[in-house]
Amino acid sequence: METVESLSKKIESLERQLNETQAVSRQYLQNVAHQLTAPIGAIKWSIEALRDERVPLARKQTLMRSVYSQSTILVHVIKNFTLMSNLEADHELGQFREQPEPTDIRLLAINLVNDFQPQAYERGITIDVNDDSFDKTYRDKLLEIEKNLVAQALSNVIENAVKYADPDSKIEVRAWLSTNCIGLVVESQGIPISPSDTKRIFERGFRGTSAQQSVAAGTGFGLYLASRIMDFHHGSIFVEPKGRRSSFKMEFPKSRLIG
Ligand SMILES: Nc1ncnc2c1ncn2[C@@H]1O[C@H](COP(=O)(O)OP(=O)(O)O)[C@@H](O)[C@H]1O
Ligand SMILES: [Mg+2]
Repeated sequence: METVESLSKKIESLERQLNETQAVSRQYLQNVAHQLTAPIGAIKWSIEALRDERVPLARKQTLMRSVYSQSTILVHVIKNFTLMSNLEADHELGQFREQPEPTDIRLLAINLVNDFQPQAYERGITIDVNDDSFDKTYRDKLLEIEKNLVAQALSNVIENAVKYADPDSKIEVRAWLSTNCIGLVVESQGIPISPSDTKRIFERGFRGTSAQQSVAAGTGFGLYLASRIMDFHHGSIFVEPKGRRSSFKMEFPKSRLIG
């Protein structure tokens, strides 16, 4: 009798687990669908307006910028989903790993910032890459890193800065150096990060309450992926919030500096 009872308990618990897993994957799929639908909808809408002869040229330029910006978001979202599902299946992100290669981190930052300029422009935000700080910190040295993964981590951080910053504010990307580490900082001003959120924003799926209220679109995967990618490099990512200003610091061991 006892065995039957314990078996039925096990079955019940398995059933609960199965339901939970199904709920999680349903939620995940809904998230994927929502994240893909929003930019595609915006692109379609812009293209329709572009075809309209009555729309003035100046407006068409804005619409073109918006198409570019939405496509960037789309590529970015898809890359994140691909990395996420790979991480679920394989904790080491096997198929995405590459040989670390000497990388000009300033150039990487400039290229990514350019990708997000149209999105920033729409909200009156300027993004500056502080050349002086890179000159002083890196001189002509390169960082030995897995370039595409670090690019994804950094673009997640820049995307957040644009998404959660105050309209008409300024975002700064600058080089960062400490005794043992070298890296960069992305500083923005906008939605404050509370002390309790500071601990949790790097968790998989976590989104801040006020962030969620002001920007509906989001999965809570961005910073989780960024921190996993920094782990692969024996580096780290952390945030230093000061009121409405937040500095996200990404750091690598100095031993990755070459040249
Ligand atoms: N630059 C920022 N300013 C304010 N809050 C931020 C910033 N970057 C991240 N956050 C907070 O960290 C949370 C997690 O970020 P992320 O993992 O990229 O997920 P998502 O952007 O999809 O919400 C956000 O929901 C937000 O609360
Ligand atoms: Mg994000």
